[in-house]
Amino acid sequence: MKPKVYVTYPISNEVEAFLSKSCDVQKWEGDGEIPRDLLLKEISDVEGLYTSRNTGGVVDEELLINAPNLKVISTVSVGYNHFDVEAMNKHEVIGTNTPEVLDETVADLAFSLILSTARRIVELDRYVKEGNWQSDTKYQETYGKDVHSSTLGIIGMGRIGEAIARRAKFGFNMDVLYYNRNRKPEAEEKFGAEYCDLESLLTHSDFVVLMTPLTPETFQIIGAKEFKLMKESAIFINVSRGQTVDENALIQALENKEIYGAGLDVFELEPVEVDNPLLKMPNVVAVPHIGSATARTEEAMAMRAAENTVAVLTGKEPIDRIS
Ligand code: DGY
Repeated sequence: MKPKVYVTYPISNEVEAFLSKSCDVQKWEGDGEIPRDLLLKEISDVEGLYTSRNTGGVVDEELLINAPNLKVISTVSVGYNHFDVEAMNKHEVIGTNTPEVLDETVADLAFSLILSTARRIVELDRYVKEGNWQSDTKYQETYGKDVHSSTLGIIGMGRIGEAIARRAKFGFNMDVLYYNRNRKPEAEEKFGAEYCDLESLLTHSDFVVLMTPLTPETFQIIGAKEFKLMKESAIFINVSRGQTVDENALIQALENKEIYGAGLDVFELEPVEVDNPLLKMPNVVAVPHIGSATARTEEAMAMRAAENTVAVLTGKEPIDRIS
């Protein structure tokens, strides 16, 4: 008998066919996140849970107790802060994620946010479409900031950080500073990236990109003190997780013009609440957590998660083990 796998993420026929060769696949086919009580019911006898950061909710002690046969939980995401890794280790459940296949796509998004915030693309697009571009428009009022030849500070120099650094160095002739738990000699050599402490990075960067995973150490790593250290002309970009920033401090920093603008893919609460003050600010570009959201990359991530699931359920080591 094939092992049962419950899937909460919408998979393609190709991914389903791959999983079905080795597993008995059951799926959530509703929209968005599966209701928790239904999930707990559906997984009570499965050996695999195939999920994602926004379709399956959190993996915690309650879920693990409720699904005693579980051997593997695969998330279609690189971030796995929705997993209680300690509890998974305790229950001897293997966790897997999907690094690498999304690096370039997330780096593209980080750069889109840098460019669109610096050159005020969203604000000026609205300006044109609302009919405000008239013959007496003051050209100076459309000025933004140069991205090329400026200084980019990357907090979290993992694979995605490196993909951002490559774009910065070779595409935009930028100086790259980085702050990371460990030094990355290769990134220093390849992109001329300069390792520095957080304070120096914040003080000297024109663009500060937050790319660190969310962990107890990085929770609200950027708050009021850090925004005060940034240049008044600085642009803050967050493509990591909303909780790596003290969002109220960000709102204050923008309201008090301590920084110039922000490009945000992630928010403390997602979906972001419609009355969040950030959404009213013309100097904030906001997108709905779309770092890896291209059809090609999401398919590659989905297949990678399927490979991880099947590996564990057929007695092999998964490619991307996290617990
Ligand atoms: C992930 O996969 O964790 C990222 O948030 C993609 O956007």
